[in-house]
Amino acid sequence: MQSLQDKIKQYEADIDATVPTSADELETYRIKYLGTKGIVKDIFGEMKNVPKEQKKDAGQLLNAFKQKAEAKFEEYKHLQHSKAVKADVQDISLPGTTLPVGTRHPLRMVENKIVSIFEKIGFSVATGPEIEDDWHNFTSLNMPENHTARDMQDTFYVQQNPDWVLRTHTSSVQARIMEQGKMPVRVICPGRVYRNETISARAHCFFHQVEGLYVDKNVSFADLKQTLYYFVKEMFGENTKVRFRPSYFPFTEPSAEMDISCTVCGGDGCSLCKHTGWVEILGCGMVHPNMLRNFDIDPEEYTGFAFGMGVERITQLLYRVNDLRLYSQNDVRFLRQFESL
Ligand code: DAH
Repeated sequence: MQSLQDKIKQYEADIDATVPTSADELETYRIKYLGTKGIVKDIFGEMKNVPKEQKKDAGQLLNAFKQKAEAKFEEYKHLQHSKAVKADVQDISLPGTTLPVGTRHPLRMVENKIVSIFEKIGFSVATGPEIEDDWHNFTSLNMPENHTARDMQDTFYVQQNPDWVLRTHTSSVQARIMEQGKMPVRVICPGRVYRNETISARAHCFFHQVEGLYVDKNVSFADLKQTLYYFVKEMFGENTKVRFRPSYFPFTEPSAEMDISCTVCGGDGCSLCKHTGWVEILGCGMVHPNMLRNFDIDPEEYTGFAFGMGVERITQLLYRVNDLRLYSQNDVRFLRQFESL
């Protein structure tokens, strides 16, 4: 009996010290203790040598030992699955499969840049529909029917409804903002516009504009100039020069066009600036009082300025893209060149 107790103690110490870490190690343990030729079976065989009066105690001892040996096995049973799981584990240090990633379109990148420059000084973004009615695209902008200014733009009319046009400029968004009647207004309106032009390197039937509108009490031409100076320096760099030329737009009075010193030759003269050193980038002016009246805004109380620029033009000046058609041909050899911008 004494020797049986000692043996069991030894085995128990061995079981305590056993920490299987894999399915193989667990199996070794199982065979050693619980297998058909294992220690548990073996030691139960020793019962026959135990004197009769001690059999009860010995039986309890052996049962406890068996339970301990089995409990250990149960505790680590989960390791039996570890092999299968291991085979499934991914080696996360391997290089991944690279999927082709698209790039931002250069026009969108330039549009985003323009918008963010104006957002920095408190303008918020407004948009309007591309199919526009006559009132918002023309009439409310001081261009009544038969106004000669309508000849400036060859317009796509919607066949089903002659009152509808594909907007010819983003100035229509000005009208939509003013009709909301919430003063003051300080918005920047990016969007696509359409004109019935023959497609060539220099003209397209759709292109993109960004419109700006600022209406408040005491807004002056000086505010317009200062805002646009700021824009030019942010967009084209500190050293870019700016000049205004008087012009005509029906929805502004006075009106102007703004030129910047040529970004290609720096003002010395080249083919882009037609050897003048200057390139036009936008139209602008003080919002015409008639337009304010069209939206029940009192021109004695409120004044405003507006401007509109072509995104393709700005992109051409920044990246020297010399053919407008490239923007809509979806040629990745062209588009990829803007990947890292
Ligand atoms: N809508 C004009 C165009 O498409 C651009 C323009 C000129 C917008 C003067 C304005 C402006 O807001 O004040 O050519």
